Amino acid sequence: MNVLVVGGAGYIGSHCVRQLQVAGHTPIVLDNLVKGHKDSIPEGVTFHEVDLADSPKVVDILKKEAIDIVMHFAAFIEVGESMQDPLKHYENNVAKTVSLLKSMREAGVNKFVFSSSCTVLGEEAEPPFDETMPLRPISAYGQTKADVEVILNYCTKAYGMSAAIFRYFNASGAAEGGIIGEDHSPETHLIPIAIQVALGQREKMMVFGNDYPTPDGTCLRDYVHVDDLSRAHIAAFPLLEENGKLLTYNLGTGTPASVLEIIKTVEEVSGRPVPYDLAPKRAGDVPAAYADSAKAKSELNWTPQYGTIRSIIETAWAWHQSHPHGYEDA
Ligand code: UFG
Repeated sequence: MNVLVVGGAGYIGSHCVRQLQVAGHTPIVLDNLVKGHKDSIPEGVTFHEVDLADSPKVVDILKKEAIDIVMHFAAFIEVGESMQDPLKHYENNVAKTVSLLKSMREAGVNKFVFSSSCTVLGEEAEPPFDETMPLRPISAYGQTKADVEVILNYCTKAYGMSAAIFRYFNASGAAEGGIIGEDHSPETHLIPIAIQVALGQREKMMVFGNDYPTPDGTCLRDYVHVDDLSRAHIAAFPLLEENGKLLTYNLGTGTPASVLEIIKTVEEVSGRPVPYDLAPKRAGDVPAAYADSAKAKSELNWTPQYGTIRSIIETAWAWHQSHPHGYEDA
């Protein structure tokens, strides 16, 4: 398949590009490089530095590259920013996705894979989260993902388009070999921050809240390897052959880890201390979020290859060690 990977120079998109190659597909990257890193694109992969809302160019690319499937990873992801500047998130995550879908219609491409988030389920949901739970996001970011999920529901019914929605829990880790990895600016995610402390780039870190109703009082999250996420997306391709299909999958390992367990594992893997201070709870954090991925397991025959938090952190550590300043070191 010829696959247009929109946001293919970003964290999850760039890992998916490599997994597409492993699976024998031809990835073509489209990215405006606002957040993405050109150095994450493998040599020999066609790259279009184009904004996904530049409809004339996108239609042209879809036709010229004979694209079969579009995968869309190009979203703003910072929850805090989305609350301060919701229109920025709505424009990028919703309006530009509508533009991309219209371009696909114009070019006659009707298979779509969408990167969503467990955050669409909101804070009332009780884990483990399955796909039957209602959409109840509590941030503007989460609402933008939920909005696109609803838009895809209507589009698949109206236009015969077929779409697969993947809701990630905590995407983490890096490709084997430490060639590509996680490089966000600003970095807000727990594992890379703990690694930056281990590397001596930060003196210490903060643990946001330790009186949650969890075994050690810190939040439980479902950390899932970015290559495992990518493999699930690719496994859905055959199911998209049927027109009008809408598939939704929650992707996680189902085994949560606490903030303190993550810090301890980073210390073990790196062999270095990760000092921290206790800090107040971060707004919007739920005590526990982990997936019931039974649907992905049965329908896509998907099993995460990285089943332990240690195996995931080892890959992240390898990347950060060889690229302490991210793609600046590439
Ligand atoms: N945490 C700390 N200290 C830090 C950073 C994080 O204690 O310095 C804690 C958080 O409070 C949370 C846990 O570590 O309890 C995980 O936090 P992350 O920011 O790594 O991940 P989230 O669960 O908040 O976010 C995940 C994804 C985001 C996505 C969000 C909503 O990683 O990209 O879900 O879908 F936006």
